[in-house]
Parts: sequence; C-alpha cells; structure tokens
Amino acid sequence: MDFKKKILITGGAGFIGSHLVRLFVKKHPDYQIVNLDKLTYAGNLENLKDVEQAPNYKFVRADITDKAFIDELFQIEKFDAVIHLAAESHVDRSITSPMDFIMTNIVGTVNLLNAARHTWESFDGKLFFHVSTDEVYGSLGETGLFTEETPYDPRSPYSASKASSDHLVRAYFHTYGMPVMISNCSNNYGPYQFPEKLLPLMINNIKNNKPLPIYGDGKYTRDWLWVEDHAAAIELIFHEGQIGETYNIGGNNEWQNIDLVHKLCEIMDRLLGRSEGTSKQLITFVKDRPGHDLRYAIDASKLQNELNWSPTLQTEEGLEKTAKWYLDNEDWLERVTSGAYQDYYKEMYG
Ligand code: NAD
Ligand code: DAU
Repeated sequence: MDFKKKILITGGAGFIGSHLVRLFVKKHPDYQIVNLDKLTYAGNLENLKDVEQAPNYKFVRADITDKAFIDELFQIEKFDAVIHLAAESHVDRSITSPMDFIMTNIVGTVNLLNAARHTWESFDGKLFFHVSTDEVYGSLGETGLFTEETPYDPRSPYSASKASSDHLVRAYFHTYGMPVMISNCSNNYGPYQFPEKLLPLMINNIKNNKPLPIYGDGKYTRDWLWVEDHAAAIELIFHEGQIGETYNIGGNNEWQNIDLVHKLCEIMDRLLGRSEGTSKQLITFVKDRPGHDLRYAIDASKLQNELNWSPTLQTEEGLEKTAKWYLDNEDWLERVTSGAYQDYYKEMYG
C-alpha cells in the first residue's frame, strides 16, 4: 500500500509515546507509523497490543545512540517526518545516573537530527518535531507561569539534558534551515505510566498497603495533564503548527503534591472498598529530592488561541480513570514492576 506520509515516532513504547502511536495509527490510516524504541525498563510493547497488527504500523527495536543503525534506517526508510519522544524521563534517575540522560537525550537527539539532515534532500514537506518538557524553564515561585519566552533555566540533569536537546533542535533550524517544531509540556498522567512517577507509584503502593513517600513537605506544585490530551495536542501541532515555533502544553491544573495524593487516597479508598481515611495513613514524609523544583505552571494560551486546543478532562475524573485503569490492569503492573525494577525500588525506598 502507498502511504501519504511515513512518520518515525521514537519512544513509542513508553508512556506518552504509546498514546501518541495509538492516536496516529488509528486516526491516520493513510500514514505509515514506524515506532522506534530501545525497550528500556520504561518501554513496553504491551502498551500497544491493540495496534500492533494494524497495516500502517511497524516496530523497530533500536537505540537512538547507535549512530550507524540510525543513519542506515533513515536511508532505507526515507521518513517524511520524525516525532521524537525517546528519552530517559525520570528526574530521580537523572540524579543517580546522569550519563544515561546525556547519552540518550542529547547524543541520541543529535543522531536523529543528523540522520534527518543527511537523508532529506529537500526540506519541503518534512518535519522534525521534538517533544519536550516544561522543566527546561526551571522553577517558579508562588506566582507566575512559564510562557514560550521564559528563559531556559534547567536545574536537574534530566531537565538540563532536555534543554540541551531543545537548543540543538533550534540550532538545526537556524543553521541548516531544518523544519522543526518543539512542544514543552507539563506533568502527564494516565494509563501505561511506569510506576516510578508520582501517581502510578502511589496507586501501586496504596493497593499493596505500602508507605506513600512524599518528598520534603509535599508543598511542591505541578500542573497535571491527562496524557491523551497531550497526545491530541502533539497531533494538532504536527498538522497545524508553524515551522520553527515552540508551543507550551499544560492542563491549567495546579496541585501541591500532598493535596493531589490526598485526593487520590480518597478515590482509592472508595474503589478498593476501604473505609475513608485508610490510605492517607500510609503517607510518609521522606528526604527531599536534591534540587527539587518548587513549582511548574504553564501558560498554554498560544496553543489555545492559535490552534484552538484545550484540555478535555478535569483532574477528579482523570484521577479516577487512572486509578481504575491500574486496578483493572494488575498483570501489566505486576510485569513491569518485576525484575530489575525491584532492585531500583529497594535502593530508592528501602
Ligand atoms: P517514558 O520513560 O515512559 O518513555 C520513554 C521511551 O523511550 C521508552 O519506551 C524507552 O524504552 C524509550 N527509550 C529510552 N531510551 C532510548 C534510546 N536510547 N533509544 C530508543 N528508545 C529509548 O517517557 P514519557 O513519560 O512517555 O516521556 C516521553 C517524552 O515526553 C520524553 O521525551 C519526555 O522528556 C517528554 N515529556 C514527558 C512528560 C511526562 O510527564 N511524562 C511531560 C513532558 C514531556
Ligand atoms: O513537568 C514535566 C515532567 O514531569 C516530565 O518532563 C518528566 O519526564 C516527568 O517525570 C515529570 O517530572 P516530575 O519530577 O515532576 O515527576 P515525578 O512524578 O517524578 O514527581 C512529581 C512530583 O512528586 C515532584 O514534585 C516530586 C514528587 N514526588 C515524586 C515521587 C516519585 C514525591 O513526593 N514522591 C515520589 O515518590
């Protein structure tokens, strides 16, 4: 079959990537979607069971730091566009193992940029879309919002590696005229998120009656976005955004960690048939994350005004859907938390 476009999505077996691959495969049967993923601890092909047989879907297991493989793949496949999500994504891991973040997030991104630049004879109709984070902007005080003009001020090895890759993507736009777009999004939540991140970790621990580790005083603030809303925003920007532009994506939905975990505890008590207040008793304040950013909050008005995007789900509904999904998918949770994850978890939380 002749496809209208061939799109490489990297990191498609991860949390956000799997939602994005599903959206593109289902919504665009006339595009061929090639999902490239190394399948690290965070990548899982089970996340894509419902699309793996689709005629417009193909999986390639590869490491974006493997320059020779990436160069050859681009030469053979002749992609029209790249949507790049593959990354090491967990801040705590970046504190213990920064080099993995430098290699994948920076070197891996440059390998993709170079492969695209060298195989795209003309940039006409081509696009390199980099999926990035609001953490590149640093940390806010009690007030204010990150806009697309906020100067970069990354403070963790993770955010510094993402800031670096954003800068490189922009450098390829300015230096070589490569058609690029960047999106910077706030904290995502929903199904298929590896249970090391706040919400799935808390859901898993509540289910297993384990302590709920809250870093510091729990007053750190994040803006939460339903993962399918993020995927929809990327798909919209991919089709209607302007070359060379950056778009902030956020839920306009700020929560202090402790309040969010309290809300989740209420929902979990109800879903598990436990008496009110049971799960909250598991909350344990633990040593703070080094360099913990106080607050992130996104001004997504550019995306809302120019492309008419807005988030669809309110937190309470989203939290309930998320909690139910993890409870209904115990096998998935079991499988992704066995093996190497056990050692990491022990080291982090005892
Ligand atoms: P994730 O950790 O769930 O998934 C990352 C995926 O990348 C995994 O499937 C993994 O196997 C793959 N990968 C890692 N290293 C690789 C390598 N060297 N080569 C090929 N594949 C590799 O991450 P996520 O939460 O889905 O985040 C996806 C992207 O979105 C990342 O770039 C992240 O920085 C960005 N982002 C995440 C959030 C969030 O809240 N999770 C918010 C904003 C932006
Ligand atoms: O803002 C976007 C970013 O959001 C993404 O770029 C990252 O990939 C993603 O991991 C996320 O980063 P955070 O550091 O904000 O997410 P995390 O789930 O690790 O933590 C959310 C908040 O909860 C943060 O303030 C730290 C706190 N926390 C986290 C964990 C895992 C706890 O208090 N206890 C925990 O056990």
